[in-house]
Amino acid sequence: MWSKVFFVCLLSALQQSSFGVDLKFRECSPRMPTAVSNWSSPYCVCNSTYCDDAPRISRPSGSFRSYVLISTSKDGLRFSTSTGSFRGSDAAPDIKPDASITVDPSMTYQDILGFGAAATDATGININSLPEAAQNEFIRSYFSEDGLEYTIIRVPMAGTDFSTRPYSYAMVENDTLLEYFALAEEDHRFKIPFIRRAMKLSRRPINLLASPWSPSPWMKARPTWIGSNTLKREYWHTWAFYFAKFFKEYQDQGLNFWALTPQNEPLNAFGALPINSMEWTVEDQRDWVVNFLVPILKKTGFGNINIILVDGMRHLLPEWPQIFMNDSSTRKQFAGTGVHWYLDHSYSVDRLDETHDLFPDKFIIYTESCPDYDADLGSWYRAEQFAVSIIDTLNHWVVGWLDWNMALDERGGPNWNGNFMGAGVIVNGSAGEFYKQPTFYTMGHFSKYVPPGSVRIGTSNEGPFEIKTVAFRRPDNSTAIVFLNTHDSERIISVSDITKGAIEFSIPGKSIHTLIYW
Ligand SMILES: *[C@@H]1O[C@H](CO)[C@@H](O)[C@H](O)[C@H]1NC(C)=O
Ligand SMILES: *[C@@H]1O[C@H](CO)[C@@H](O)[C@H](O)[C@H]1NC(C)=O
Ligand SMILES: *[C@@H]1O[C@H](CO)[C@@H](O)[C@H](O)[C@H]1NC(C)=O
Ligand SMILES: *[C@@H]1O[C@H](CO)[C@@H](O)[C@H](O)[C@H]1NC(C)=O
Ligand SMILES: *[C@@H]1O[C@H](CO)[C@@H](O)[C@H](O)[C@H]1NC(C)=O
Ligand SMILES: *[C@@H]1O[C@H](CO)[C@@H](O)[C@H](O)[C@H]1NC(C)=O
Repeated sequence: MWSKVFFVCLLSALQQSSFGVDLKFRECSPRMPTAVSNWSSPYCVCNSTYCDDAPRISRPSGSFRSYVLISTSKDGLRFSTSTGSFRGSDAAPDIKPDASITVDPSMTYQDILGFGAAATDATGININSLPEAAQNEFIRSYFSEDGLEYTIIRVPMAGTDFSTRPYSYAMVENDTLLEYFALAEEDHRFKIPFIRRAMKLSRRPINLLASPWSPSPWMKARPTWIGSNTLKREYWHTWAFYFAKFFKEYQDQGLNFWALTPQNEPLNAFGALPINSMEWTVEDQRDWVVNFLVPILKKTGFGNINIILVDGMRHLLPEWPQIFMNDSSTRKQFAGTGVHWYLDHSYSVDRLDETHDLFPDKFIIYTESCPDYDADLGSWYRAEQFAVSIIDTLNHWVVGWLDWNMALDERGGPNWNGNFMGAGVIVNGSAGEFYKQPTFYTMGHFSKYVPPGSVRIGTSNEGPFEIKTVAFRRPDNSTAIVFLNTHDSERIISVSDITKGAIEFSIPGKSIHTLIYW
């Protein structure tokens, strides 16, 4: 297996010279998990002196028919590049494909807003456990031109379960006027410095999205951080003012927000999940947003921050957006709907279409998704789960997709309540290393190569084997097609575009690809 991986890497390095692929990019330094299962795939090791890059792709100078193919596979390819040319549509294919993808650039759908993940306390704690030079490689990996180029960072307002303690910014009991409101040590140590470094490195503008998990227990009908509890009516004003205070404190640190969600998973408290939470009925949350949050944000100069509804699972669609936006006079206050992927297996993707059809001018974005904790690094299963979800949801009007924690430790934490999970990067602080998981590369096949402002275009797909696919016209007018082989074995696929001709190539079993041509 390794000789094959290295052969392909070498091949792609040799091929780069004549095409639009940056020559200098560093390949994955692969390591295989210790406990090997049939889903095991290598993870890429980064440290203070070495870390792999995501290749920069630019317009090839050669033929009008050239393309670049970027590939990641279970058997070890990581953003491996190869190039070739379309043949004119009059020339006959020399092989019979297992699946044929046809692109229809005349059909256009939603504009892409962006991809990203959350700057949780756990992320910052893990970054800080690395030596400075490895921290720089980490931030480069997610935000620089040699990395995934994320453009959205979700910022929890105070603590989440991925903190080392539950906390809010209003810890003094009965402080109704928020005179003692203060950012926490966590903001100053784990979030603000990291977000600033990311923004400094990124050539794309970064959008910050704020979401609260829980107010202080004293504001709640049942004074606990977790479990079933609602906001006391007498604190509806205080809780709205808390948002304005938060935006002001971050503004004073030079960080301005693009959007907010009123509450992370407003119904999860009912499910008794072990996470900081607060529950809302949809009517209460609507009344609070319309009558308290919006007026206070307007009065304090934050009326331009976009409000993204729901921030919970797909079962709330389309009812929650419908109830929020039924009143045409308040509908304009909402920018879109946020969805978390956790119940997608139980609720049809049609709910996204229904929501879009009801409110075609309001976007739908996936605001949180994460793989379960997996004791073994390098799971291709998680990478495929991500790819399936991203392709399916983008094909149903979604404009962006956010991973959850950007980094966790080898246990899947820290998490103050033991709710350990997986992440795109696992940090091994004691070794001064971090490990890029297969899901990291899945994200990059979209985030890096389908930049904000790309528009989804039509694709169709004919068997006998299904290949999952989604296509875009990028802002520079090139076309990007992302496709996924969920089958175990190699497949021959063809891609046709009436403006270019056709290509056939074989792709390995269990692999994801981005094909780009101008
Ligand atoms: C791994 O094995 C299980 C059954 O043991 C099977 O269901 C699954 O499809 C296999 N996955 C891969 C990637 O081969
Ligand atoms: C960092 O990783 C590179 C590439 O894997 C390796 O050659 C080097 O020895 C590592 N450095 C340290 C300090 O472990
Ligand atoms: C906060 O207010 C509640 C209700 O008025 C009261 O019972 C409680 O003693 C107050 N707590 C403090 C620390 O003042
Ligand atoms: C929308 O409002 C109308 C009355 O204005 C009402 O009849 C209808 O039930 C409402 N729909 C929802 C989903 O709230
Ligand atoms: C993390 O580093 C330690 C050495 O500090 C090493 O023993 C351990 O195996 C590493 N973990 C992984 C997953 O490589
Ligand atoms: C893309 O194509 C459109 C229409 O053909 C043209 O107006 C626009 O200038 C092109 N943009 C770039 C970046 O080439």
